[in-house]
Amino acid sequence: MDFSRKAVCADGFDFVAGIKIKTADELKLMRSSCAVAAVVLEEIGAFIRPGLTTMQVDEFAAEQIKRHGGKSAFLGYRKYPRHVCLSVNEEVVHGLGGGRELHFGDIISVDVGVSYRGFIGDNARTFAVGGCGVAAQRLLDVTEQALYLGIAAARPENRVTDISRAVQDFVEGNGFSVVREFVGHGVGRVMHEEPQVPNFVDRKMNDRLHTGMTIAIEPMVNAGQPGVKILKDGWTVVTQDGSLSAHFEHTVLVTDGEPEILTWPAAKLSKLKVA
Ligand code: MF3
Ligand code: CO
Repeated sequence: MDFSRKAVCADGFDFVAGIKIKTADELKLMRSSCAVAAVVLEEIGAFIRPGLTTMQVDEFAAEQIKRHGGKSAFLGYRKYPRHVCLSVNEEVVHGLGGGRELHFGDIISVDVGVSYRGFIGDNARTFAVGGCGVAAQRLLDVTEQALYLGIAAARPENRVTDISRAVQDFVEGNGFSVVREFVGHGVGRVMHEEPQVPNFVDRKMNDRLHTGMTIAIEPMVNAGQPGVKILKDGWTVVTQDGSLSAHFEHTVLVTDGEPEILTWPAAKLSKLKVA
């Protein structure tokens, strides 16, 4: 039976090759959790400025998530000890808020996962602190553009590798490199569902995409070599060569037509929350 043509699957037929297909009711909830995640990310972006410590940013994030009635999807996940991930300059992902002070010209990757009404919304963006140099800005632009090219490939006639290829070709064509050790993922009631969505072509991860799948696409791009290592805190991932790194992420719904970006910040939060 081919489920791929259906807008949403009927109850009881909601997995294809182990990948969850969201029902219309589930998508309503998912839209609201993603809208909260998107708004919180925007609020953090507006808050960031030179002179703050990353711990102050984490505390602000916690307040905003709470104010919207959500919960951090990261706090406590595999014992993760903060509300959001804050990764500065050579830090790639999973950075822990702490005493590090933000300076003008730094870049900071902010990853926000929110649990709301039983579903997760996951998104990330790298911000310049006040402003940044042209080399850093080019890294941000290429990484963000790679995310949108990946999203454009998230269509039911495609496979996961089509997303991966779109991201990798663009990033490497611009002289940067994609991180191999961390990948995007299906997202829904839990943060990490099938399939894995690498930012490089991996023939082992060649699942077909189907309408109704919700996936987090998240290129992590290094200005230098692709290698990373984990600091002694057990979480913070940094580039091996000390080069800058950027990270952009959206939660996306595969549809019969254009992919729908569920963590688009302009989503009408108040409308979605009462739906
Ligand atoms: N967006 C990241 C991911 O999808 C965030 C996970 S951070 C963790 O893996 F702390 F929760 F692990
Ligand atoms: Co994610």
